[in-house]
Amino acid sequence: MPLPKAELHLHIEGTLEPGLAFALAARNGVELPFKDAEELRHAYHFEDLQSFLDLYYRLMAVLHTEDDFAELADAYLARAAAQGVRHAEIFFDPQAHTSRGVPLATVVEGLGRALDTSEERHGVSTRLIMCFLRDESAASAMETLLAAKPYLHRIAGVGLDSAEAGHPPAKFREVYEVAAELGLRRVAHAGEEGPPAYISEALDVLGVERVDHGLRCMEDPELVERLVRDRVPLTLCPLSNVRLRAVRTLEEHPLPAMMDAGLMCTVNSDDPSYFGGYAGDNFDAVQRALGVGEERLRELARNSFLASFLEDDEERRAL
Ligand code: ADE
Ligand code: ZN
Repeated sequence: MPLPKAELHLHIEGTLEPGLAFALAARNGVELPFKDAEELRHAYHFEDLQSFLDLYYRLMAVLHTEDDFAELADAYLARAAAQGVRHAEIFFDPQAHTSRGVPLATVVEGLGRALDTSEERHGVSTRLIMCFLRDESAASAMETLLAAKPYLHRIAGVGLDSAEAGHPPAKFREVYEVAAELGLRRVAHAGEEGPPAYISEALDVLGVERVDHGLRCMEDPELVERLVRDRVPLTLCPLSNVRLRAVRTLEEHPLPAMMDAGLMCTVNSDDPSYFGGYAGDNFDAVQRALGVGEERLRELARNSFLASFLEDDEERRAL
């Protein structure tokens, strides 16, 4: 029985497996620059975040209809459930779809359809988090936020992702202010490739409740002290960090040091189709490569529920 856990850092577009990508490409008449799923899988070697993002945006162009988004999310939920995920807070990138002519309604209603039956079909409760692409303008993010107003019953929060370096959180100050006024929860990627100062800025300027990745906080002892004191959850993604070369090897991942420092860590999969594993695989990997013991694995799983956006009574049931 895999350890029950919540997944808090998961891009639904990053769950697109090569087989489904080719099936959807055929269905929608989209040409892919690979012969078949096998050849595509061999293209999964990345130099850095940007080289991954180039393929990630290219491949998601096979997603067109509500059915496509529903099928994508349902496939993820089935896989996640099999690895012990009982609750999933799922990112999606609306601008990556609207910019190629797919309406926001198609994306949200398609994902929503899969999420509506997730508890019943897979035993997984869910939340949806809409991310802004930080390498696009703040005006585009604001436009996306306002366009999402009719769908806010389906959206729990906002996030910030895509190419981090050179795109500091403060660029999105007003967008996050409006998101807060709309009652949305706030998270942001920070300190994956960007400097520790981006983590402080995400907390101070955007008012985020969790930091996605946050890996590079370890370069700034005062920041670590603050994150420990304020119990700020970090959604770490160990296999992603290796594949995108944020760390050299899994054995050198700072997770044990971060837990020793008292940081509130969680373990997640980020883009599991691209990075070699789903949530349970990430737990197994840190156990194997870093010698993280049973007690700490249970602490990571407990943290995942505590750091989630579940209501208190839902959380108690999960714990
Ligand atoms: N979009 C999808 N995965 C991402 C990651 N790991 N960092 C930033 N943006 C992303
Ligand atoms: Zn991510």
